[in-house]
Amino acid sequence: MKLDLTIDQVKEKLEKLYMPHEIDQAIELIKEIRDLKKQKNAVILGHNYMTPDVFYGVSDYVGDSLGLAKKAAEVQADIILFNGVHFMAETASILNPDKKVLIADLEAGCSLAESITADDVRKLKQQYPGVPVVTYINCSAEVKAETDVCCTSANALKIVESIDSDTIIFLPDVYLGKNIQKFTNKKLILWDKGKCMVHEQYTKEDIEYYRKQFNDLLVIAHPECNTDVTEASDFTGSTSQMADFIKNHPQKNVLLVTECSMADNLRSEFPDRNFIGTCHTCPHMKKITLPKIRDALLYEQYEVKVPEEIAEKARKSILRMFEISYQKVK
Ligand code: 13P
Ligand code: SF4
Repeated sequence: MKLDLTIDQVKEKLEKLYMPHEIDQAIELIKEIRDLKKQKNAVILGHNYMTPDVFYGVSDYVGDSLGLAKKAAEVQADIILFNGVHFMAETASILNPDKKVLIADLEAGCSLAESITADDVRKLKQQYPGVPVVTYINCSAEVKAETDVCCTSANALKIVESIDSDTIIFLPDVYLGKNIQKFTNKKLILWDKGKCMVHEQYTKEDIEYYRKQFNDLLVIAHPECNTDVTEASDFTGSTSQMADFIKNHPQKNVLLVTECSMADNLRSEFPDRNFIGTCHTCPHMKKITLPKIRDALLYEQYEVKVPEEIAEKARKSILRMFEISYQKVK
């Protein structure tokens, strides 16, 4: 989704979420970052888990992993600054070998991406010869290079169903895999070590607890949650699909079973709703802050670059995902 807010509109978005002095400080930095963006011909992509000051203040495009990867493949700019985590910037770099791709903090990782190496994938391929590999986009470029097709939380079932094989190695998110397994007859070989450190914390008891308090409660979960959590929810989808679902469901009370900033960003989009104030924070996403974004543009740091021999193979698995995901249904 494209964002093109004036400074006054940004202030309005932040008003109910921050103290006045925090808004003043944020606006100073936002103006500085906007000027640098123009000077450097840079585009900023912002994941839905960015804090509202970053999300509304400086992003040109916001969205989920799929939407932002697609946008990264299309944008015309000299610099792409990815406000998200490292694997997202790496994906942008794989798709743009000639552009400078930056991330404001190289330590913004992901527990899922860290759970598996390219060597692990090679061993699995030896163990299951000829079985295709579908990998969640939350993984390193080296892992993508060993993969037949990538997927995201928005298209995982579609990708799995499109593969001409009864058995698929599905990596690394074990819970996403289990959530997909419920809707496909294909056998998925899963990777037990792959878990999101944020979503694995939710339990079905959490949901039951809030259902007792709000009888109209709309519960929306991310598929990185365990299956008992998604089963106790009304809808499961990617971060952008969550927002779309709310648009079409009028319940006043909404529980988002996902990272905290998601609800903060949606509060201003849906002022008539009550987002239940419970959530877990992703320490990686939270490493991206306005001062670091300013420095990233000012000093053109930190560049994320994938060696071409890895990027070439990884690119195929991402482009294959786009091809399947955006295929027109006849
Ligand atoms: P989405 O693709 O749904 O935005 O998810 C990315 C992610 O890292 C969720 O934890
Ligand atoms: Fe990774 Fe989970 Fe953070 Fe998303 S929320 S970036 S899956 S650790």
